[in-house]
Amino acid sequence: MKDLSVNNLLGIKYLKKNDIELIFKTAENFKNIINQPIKKVPSLRDITIANLFFENSTRTKLSFELAQKRLSADVINFSTSFSSVKKGETLLDTVNNILAMKVDIIVMRHPNPGASIFLSRNIDAKIINAGDGTHEHPTQALLDAFSIKEKYGQIKDKKIVIVGDILHSRVALSNIYCLKMLGAKVKVCGPSSLIPKHIDDLDVEHISNIEDALQWCDVANVLRIQLERQDVNYFPSLREYSMVYGINNELLSRLNKKITIMHPGPINRGVELSSDVADSNHSIILDQVENGVAIRMAVLYLLAGKIK
Ligand code: NCD
Repeated sequence: MKDLSVNNLLGIKYLKKNDIELIFKTAENFKNIINQPIKKVPSLRDITIANLFFENSTRTKLSFELAQKRLSADVINFSTSFSSVKKGETLLDTVNNILAMKVDIIVMRHPNPGASIFLSRNIDAKIINAGDGTHEHPTQALLDAFSIKEKYGQIKDKKIVIVGDILHSRVALSNIYCLKMLGAKVKVCGPSSLIPKHIDDLDVEHISNIEDALQWCDVANVLRIQLERQDVNYFPSLREYSMVYGINNELLSRLNKKITIMHPGPINRGVELSSDVADSNHSIILDQVENGVAIRMAVLYLLAGKIK
């Protein structure tokens, strides 16, 4: 397979297994390139990309921008705090104005689930969803799965538990779609109030005890509590959450095996992960960050190849 089956990257849900395999193969090539002394390739010369961030971001924004620059694209950046969105402009108007500047690809993060789907139906540029509210974060799931494959050689039959605020996490949903499509066994762990009611429909089991979950898994992908998306109290306090679900060295040492710890960032040290675990050799958190650039280069390159 040489081409993606989709014209935009809106969510993992819309991809086929072949698409993910093609993205991984392309990302492996780019990872080799960015580890050479000359890191830049001309693949996206004359392609203009707009990064539209309507919600905060550190890693994802920097990672996309670096990927675009490594591919020699022209890049413009936009975030709401400095824009006319604050003056009442609609999303479609903002984007149409940007498109009038002849933009080929839009990378968008937005607080509303489905925002990138809406854009893809209304405008001609290629759209990459960099996180839409509580819905999907496809490049994060791709880089997570790529990092697991790099560590274990394969994803099929690996046991992965996603821990924490599953209800409000776009990383959780995209990870579940992606890992299951690649044949992994996926479970979730966290307080019942933070597990979506439809989790059974995704064929994912909920383990409520953290030690049981860690004992079962090969990999724990640990998520942040998304306080900014919580309108009511889902648990008594962060301190209590951390006492019941926080992962520390003492807990890991009670397991009869070594597991891998992942986290998409930003970490709330001392809440979901203790510092000794985040910085230990269990953790592949910085490998995830490194792989994020290669995965985003691959996605940009493959979608740019579809521009007519
Ligand atoms: C995640 C996000 O924004 O969804 N972070 C990221 O993209 N690196 C997870 C989070 O904010 O907790």
